[in-house]
Amino acid sequence: MSAPTLEVHITPEQLGAALRADVAHGLTASPKWLPPKWFYDARGSELFERITRLPEYYPTRTERALLERYAGEIAAVTDPRILVELGSGSSEKTRLLLRSLPGLERYVPQDVSETALRDAARRTADEFPGIEVHGVVGDFTESLHHLPTGGRRTIAFLGGTLGNLVPDERREFLSGIADVLDAGDHLLLGVGLVTDPAILVPAYDDAAGVTAEFDRNVLSVLNKQLGADFEPDRFRHVAVWDPVAEWIEMRLEATDEMTVRIADPGFDVTFAAGEQLRTEISAKFRLPGLRDELRTAGFGEVRTWTDADERFALVCARR
Ligand code: SAH
Ligand code: AVI
Repeated sequence: MSAPTLEVHITPEQLGAALRADVAHGLTASPKWLPPKWFYDARGSELFERITRLPEYYPTRTERALLERYAGEIAAVTDPRILVELGSGSSEKTRLLLRSLPGLERYVPQDVSETALRDAARRTADEFPGIEVHGVVGDFTESLHHLPTGGRRTIAFLGGTLGNLVPDERREFLSGIADVLDAGDHLLLGVGLVTDPAILVPAYDDAAGVTAEFDRNVLSVLNKQLGADFEPDRFRHVAVWDPVAEWIEMRLEATDEMTVRIADPGFDVTFAAGEQLRTEISAKFRLPGLRDELRTAGFGEVRTWTDADERFALVCARR
């Protein structure tokens, strides 16, 4: 069995600089916002894994069931030598797919969370001794040009993470992927579909409060990384379905008026009582619209698989 290798495309210093830039931009904007990638330090990745096991959070188990059921069909369509996975997290569901890809030689999980990535790479290499596992610590909105070569490729982007990009980012991301793929390569997406808000909202506001803890974790990340003095308990977790944009917005609402010091880069942020900071969007899709987006980005044939309740879809697009 060969040990997994790890490549660092984004160093802790570069990540720190990106975080400072996002904070300087997002916390001085009106309304205030932060990009969701900053949830995922070691604790954030652990909290996300707890979310995936919550009774209200249907996306993970729905996607897992789809992968269990359709891995063979996906393998027949894609048949890759190399599988690159963006935002791979624990790679837990992906291993269902790996079992069904007989010609696969290399698995390249990529994530901004180094702790999650190391653990996932080790587990995957243990379970699949015949596959070379090469982890990449990187930002998937930036390091696509490092895509491995040497055989037919599939890029997997599972879990619904595509929905965490704002529409402009999503457009750029999809066309960026189409640009780096060759004819015959594939993109495999796992996406949440528009469904009943009575199902959607509790998935992002669970009774046990795990999602609230995950949401507030971004403030702890700012405290640790930038010497900020947020008191996370003074923020209430809010999840709202926007029926026009068709996304869930997670926000942190200040319980009272406060001033927070961000030591690095060195500025104060004032929150009014009840003021909300947007921490994530989680867009839900309609398949015809997503097909159009994929075609506009440069993809050809699109295959889809959904669950009986049509809450989640696996979407495979051929370059
Ligand atoms: N694909 C896994 C994990 C989803 S959670 C699943 O389906 O369960 C989202 C993952 O994307 C996290 O592991 C997070 O660290 C990673 N992530 C978020 N933004 C990222 C970015 N800009 N670049 C790379 N990884 C990112
Ligand atoms: C990773 N991403 C797809 C999750 C989602 O559902 O948007 C993150 C998450 N946020 C709250 N719960 C889970």
